[in-house]
Formats: sequence, structure tokens, C-alpha cells
Amino acid sequence: MMNFEAALQKKIDLINGGLDDYLPMVYPEIINEAARYSIFPGGKRLRPVILLATCKMLGGKTANALPFACALEMIHTYSLIHDDLPAMDNDDLRRGHPTNHMVFGEAMAILAGDALLNRAYEVMAQHCVANPNIHFLKAMSKIADYAGIKGMIGGQVMDIRMENAAATAQELEYIYTNKTSGLLMAAFGGGALAAFADDDTVSTMEDIGKTLGMAFQIKDDLLDISGGETLGKPIGSDQKNQKSTYISLYGVEKAEEMYHQLSASVIESLRRLENSAFLVALAENLIDRTR
Ligand code: IPE
Ligand code: IPE
Ligand code: MG
Ligand code: MG
Ligand code: MG
Repeated sequence: MMNFEAALQKKIDLINGGLDDYLPMVYPEIINEAARYSIFPGGKRLRPVILLATCKMLGGKTANALPFACALEMIHTYSLIHDDLPAMDNDDLRRGHPTNHMVFGEAMAILAGDALLNRAYEVMAQHCVANPNIHFLKAMSKIADYAGIKGMIGGQVMDIRMENAAATAQELEYIYTNKTSGLLMAAFGGGALAAFADDDTVSTMEDIGKTLGMAFQIKDDLLDISGGETLGKPIGSDQKNQKSTYISLYGVEKAEEMYHQLSASVIESLRRLENSAFLVALAENLIDRTR
């Protein structure tokens, strides 16, 4: 494998190129401007990178995965725009810049989220029409499911409902495995399907995504307390909103311990797979992330 950083950057460049093509400045320009404002320069691009890497690991073609990868990043970015709205987490900084609604106003921010969500399905559906194949249809269906009520939206609903309430361990697990694991499971599962993988392989990859999502959200919560300038979003958002988190339930120390255990389990599962060097390195690099 070429050096990890170079391989990662190559994937990010492909994703950014795809996103640029998929979001042209057509009339009415303002909505494209607002959508692109949150898409570029973007964040870590973790979900689309995982989708491309999983496809490649399983012997698939990057060209078959790219539309799904870009669609997933559009869905993720829409979820962030809406997550930051005054009616939700009411935050004013995202990816190092003022949040969408601070710049474009609430109405346009809501519409920019809607536009990115819809565009994701346009892009996936167009890929399926141009390349009719049951695996591509399954990839689109999977991404749709994990973005919906049985995934990210369901998790966000309970995240909001559990503000100012003490969620139980079971409720918190529901929130994390849906609001965060959902799109990561979509990344691993969607990537596997873009490589024409069988159902068992798809489900093995999704299980890794579920655990990674738990770990990733716990780290997000830890960074919400102790993050620095590099985080690119406000510190203390969870406390401000009286969120139920692994930290409010278990305390920082125990949450950190769970985080390290979950991360180790992800890395171990990935190591058992063939051609997984890039994904192993990616998971290792996430452990001490500062953004
Ligand atoms: C933030 O996701 C929202 C969570 C699910 C924790 P990321 O940390 O992946 O955000 P970006 O894409 O890098 O900005
Ligand atoms: C968000 O969880 C998960 C989403 C599905 C957007 P958070 O509300 O903790 O994410 P951040 O910290 O604002 O990125
Ligand atoms: Mg939130
Ligand atoms: Mg938030
Ligand atoms: Mg957070």
C-alpha cells in the first residue's frame, strides 16, 4: 500500500471532485451556494472514504462506488446543517466556519439540507438507471434505510427527546447506533455492495460499522468537553443542551475506557480481513483524533 496519508488524500480528492460535479451552480444559485458552503471544504470525509475503501478492499471498482460515496457525504452534511439549527442543537460553528443558518438564514439552511438530501437520491438513482444492477439498487436501498427512521433520523429523534432527561443505557445505545452508526453502517455496507459482495460479507462489514459508530460518537462526546481549536465546532454543546450522553451516564473515565475497547475491537475485526491495511490504518488514525 502506498503511504496511508497519500492514499487517504487520493480518496478525498476523488470525493471532492465528485461532489463538485454533482452540485453545479444552476438556477436558483442561492440554494447551490448554501449547499456548497457546507460541503466545501468539508470535514474528515470519513463516511465516503470508508465506502470507497471497502469497495476497493473487496475488489470492486472505484467508479462504481463514487456516486454512493458522494451521496452519503451529501446525506451526512445535510444531517449536520439540520443538527445545528436553532430548533435542534443551536450551534454557530461547523467545520471551522459559521453554521449554514448563521450565513444563509434558517429558511435557506433548511432548504440547503433538503437539497443535499434529495440530490443524494438523484445521484444514486441516476447511477442505477445508467448501470442497471441489483447490487447498486441494494446499495441505494441500504443507504436510504440507514439515513431514515430506522437509522440516523430515528437516532436524532431520540437524541432530541432525551434532552433534559436521563436516558437509560439501552436508550443511549439506541441513540448512538442509529444517529451515528447508521451512516457508518451505510458506508461499509454500501461499499461492499458497490463491489458486488454477497450478503454475508455485507453484514460482516456493517457490524464493524456499528461498533465504529459507537466508538466514534463516544469520542465526539469526549471532544465536546475537552476538544481544542482544531475541532472546528463549539465545545460544550452537549452540556448547553443537557444531552444524554455516555459521559453524562458513565462519566469521562468510563466513557474513555469504553471508547478504547470499542476502537480496539474495530481494529481487530478489520485486521482479520484480507486487503484491509488501509481501513486498519484509518481506524488507528481515528483513535487520537482532535477533530
Ligand atoms: C459529526 O460527524 C457528527 C457525528 C455523527 C458525530 P464527523 O465528525 O464525521 O463530521 P465531519 O464530517 O468530519 O465534519
Ligand atoms: C450528531 O450528534 C449526529 C448527527 C446525526 C448529525 P452531535 O449533535 O453530537 O454531532 P455534532 O457534535 O454536532 O457534530
Ligand atoms: Mg445533535
Ligand atoms: Mg450537534
Ligand atoms: Mg457532538
